[in-house]
Amino acid sequence: MVKRNTKRTKGTKALWILCLLCSLLFPYVTESKGQAAGYTNAAVVSVDPIASSVGVDILKKGGNAVDAAVATGFALAVTWPGAGNLGGGGFMLIYLAKKGEAIGIDYREKAPEKATPKMFLNDKGEVDSKKSDVGYLVVGVPGTVKGLWEASRRYGKLDWKMLVEPALKLAQNGFVVDEVLARSLRGQASEMDAFPEFAKVFRKVDGTYYQAGETLQQPELARTLTLILNNGANGFYQGEVAKKLVDDVQANGGIITLKDLANYDAKIRMPLRGTYRGYEVVGMPPSSSGGTAVIQMLNILEAYNLGAMKRRDASTIHLLAETMRVGFYTRAKYLGDTDFVKVDLAKLTSKPFANTLRANVNTEHATSSLTLGKDIITRGEGSSTTHFSVVDAEGNAVANTYTLEDSYGSRVIAKGTGFLLNNEMHDFNMNPGVTDIRGLVGTAPNLIQPGKRMLSSMAPTIVLKDKKPFLVTGSPGGRTIINTVLQVIINVIDFKMDVQAAVDEPRIHHQWLPDVISMERRLEDLAPSLKMMGNQTRLVSTQGDSHSILIKDGEKQVGVDHRERGGAAGY
Ligand code: DON
Repeated sequence: MVKRNTKRTKGTKALWILCLLCSLLFPYVTESKGQAAGYTNAAVVSVDPIASSVGVDILKKGGNAVDAAVATGFALAVTWPGAGNLGGGGFMLIYLAKKGEAIGIDYREKAPEKATPKMFLNDKGEVDSKKSDVGYLVVGVPGTVKGLWEASRRYGKLDWKMLVEPALKLAQNGFVVDEVLARSLRGQASEMDAFPEFAKVFRKVDGTYYQAGETLQQPELARTLTLILNNGANGFYQGEVAKKLVDDVQANGGIITLKDLANYDAKIRMPLRGTYRGYEVVGMPPSSSGGTAVIQMLNILEAYNLGAMKRRDASTIHLLAETMRVGFYTRAKYLGDTDFVKVDLAKLTSKPFANTLRANVNTEHATSSLTLGKDIITRGEGSSTTHFSVVDAEGNAVANTYTLEDSYGSRVIAKGTGFLLNNEMHDFNMNPGVTDIRGLVGTAPNLIQPGKRMLSSMAPTIVLKDKKPFLVTGSPGGRTIINTVLQVIINVIDFKMDVQAAVDEPRIHHQWLPDVISMERRLEDLAPSLKMMGNQTRLVSTQGDSHSILIKDGEKQVGVDHRERGGAAGY
């Protein structure tokens, strides 16, 4: 029998359930739900309770954290189709307790061989959003299935089939749609009109939408998952699925070839390691900018006594924004796929470099982003990625973030395959040399080249204390990911919050340009003081969705982010 080791009393439990219901109905106004729940042995936290349970079932069958992460990843591809995926890519950061070893799996999408630096420009030399937002041309060569395959093959314990099977059953037998998913699918009405295969999979036969409580079955996805179950990654990158994908993409103006699929490789990367106030911070190197940026900003912040400051205070928010501005400036300037461009990661994540960057942090008054560096401006990103965290009974940990880029990606489902393809080519700098104040970046490190991986902001992170996992975290949210992860870490380490409070705490974001602090609405009261310090502010409903685990005295405490939905499971 599963024993859940929760520290809540009965009275607070009822209150907590009430708060949870409130948070689902009014996700933008929640305050912390208080003390984090914990599990004695192992835990999985993701956006979706069904997928988290799939992960925990695998752990109970003898799997390790990697097995659980692979099974959770496949399950989310069925139950959280806006971001969970087979047709996208991501990053898995693994910590193996016995060996004390950290491993990063980079399964980011790659540009097809026929990609060119100017492929998204129109006759006038401007980025053509019709080509670059959705549709067949913006699809990168998917990495997820290869990434999960490599994770399982190299670091898992259980048979591959056991890891794919739960997802296959969910696709075949269906699962019950809840209000969050029903609403999300209804929100895709015009995209479903434009992409009939998308509509075929996610609308009912009569063309209406699934209501909460109804069962969504995905027979074509089940067929694809069967081929993956039986043939491993080859079931996706070769044979029937590959052929269907390539035929449909090419018939509609896309450029992915069978060779692109056959040649796709997930890369094993040496994670970056930094330190912060006696903790060790382990993050992903490029093709994600996540680890570099998080470690660099923590290095800058280390010189300030954050713990003595008030968390929700204009001077604290101002200091964070100043730090973020510098971090995002260096990100835009230096980072790209290190298989193609030279990046001095040791320098960028070093304490001496942070000391020089700190000269650009003004604690009294906002630094001008344009003065800091006039040449580069960033563009907005989509709104669906998903992160989950796993810790097993041996102390192995996995932080995994993966994405289709936008919610539901390119909206393309190749006929008969049942899964959405990403629109990740969007993350390249699309107009070489052209950087403008409306948000285009044209710097060299992240220009399109065949076979190159587009720069990501995904930041799965594991913080170690005494060489053991202490905090496992990450988030979706495009560029805001980096700043969400940064804030979860400082909330725990500097502001001594438990992991649930750290996740619940309202967040801010500054990305150098545009020169504005974006803040969750709960921080609205601080806007006038921030303005007096020279900052521009804007309010957003939510930022990120950071499903995290903190290990304290052996207990796996879960930080479930309710900004989207969220569900933890454990034993
Ligand atoms: O890799 C990246 O940084 C982006 N494609 C992630 C997009 C994203 O997080 C959208 N989500 N909420």
